[in-house]
Amino acid sequence: MTKIYGHRGSKGEYPENTLLSFQKALNDEVEGLELDVHMTRDGEIVVIHDETLDRTTDGSGYIKDLELGYIKTVSAGSKFDHFENYHSSWDNEKVPTLEEVLQLITGKNIELNIELKTSIITYSGLEEKLLSIVNRWNSDAKIVYSSFHLPSLVRLKNTDPSVNIAWLLHAPISNPKDYIETFELEALHVEKDLILSSLYNPFHTVSEYVRVWTVNEEDEMKKLIDLGVNSIITDYPQKAVNVRIK
Ligand code: G3P
Ligand code: CA
Repeated sequence: MTKIYGHRGSKGEYPENTLLSFQKALNDEVEGLELDVHMTRDGEIVVIHDETLDRTTDGSGYIKDLELGYIKTVSAGSKFDHFENYHSSWDNEKVPTLEEVLQLITGKNIELNIELKTSIITYSGLEEKLLSIVNRWNSDAKIVYSSFHLPSLVRLKNTDPSVNIAWLLHAPISNPKDYIETFELEALHVEKDLILSSLYNPFHTVSEYVRVWTVNEEDEMKKLIDLGVNSIITDYPQKAVNVRIK
């Protein structure tokens, strides 16, 4: 069965990468959550998509230059007041730490996809810090680390050969199976047009290893379920769960 992952929680309807957004996806009974991580100046792992606070919070500055204490003072919800279901309580949403998300999913049978945003900025020691947090937490969740930056994934795997790593792709590769075997990838996380394109689709041969992002239209969800992909990563988890039932 194709699994449903909530992209940044329920990004389409709630403030992305907040506990509120993750809880909403859990309420929709997704099999997985996707989130993005960066490292603060004082070495803490926070859940946010961009390198800076500016787009998604009422604060500003690069995460790498800020301490967790300051990051915890900004609102991660108020910038989403244009959303249809915005509520003033969203203003109290904070940028979560990875540990807070691990706490949220404790005891739940869920897959957690942690994306390392290491393509533009490299954070010294990020991979080791992530492993220490996740291993210390001893969560029941299946953890999958993903990145566009293959060296980050290799570093994780070299540090702990038991980890699940998934390479994020927004351009085609000629023989996906070779990459899966060579780098011991648990999955490929593929931009949707790469696999939906009728011109070039080597991914069809390894569909059980493919998670597809970001799939928000019903017809695309249906096609990917028919192709038997491992998972769909969507901003609208409830919609995807309903499409799968039909
Ligand atoms: O994990 C897939 C997707 O999240 C990668 O792109 O920019 O939404 O993090 P982005
Ligand atoms: Ca992401």
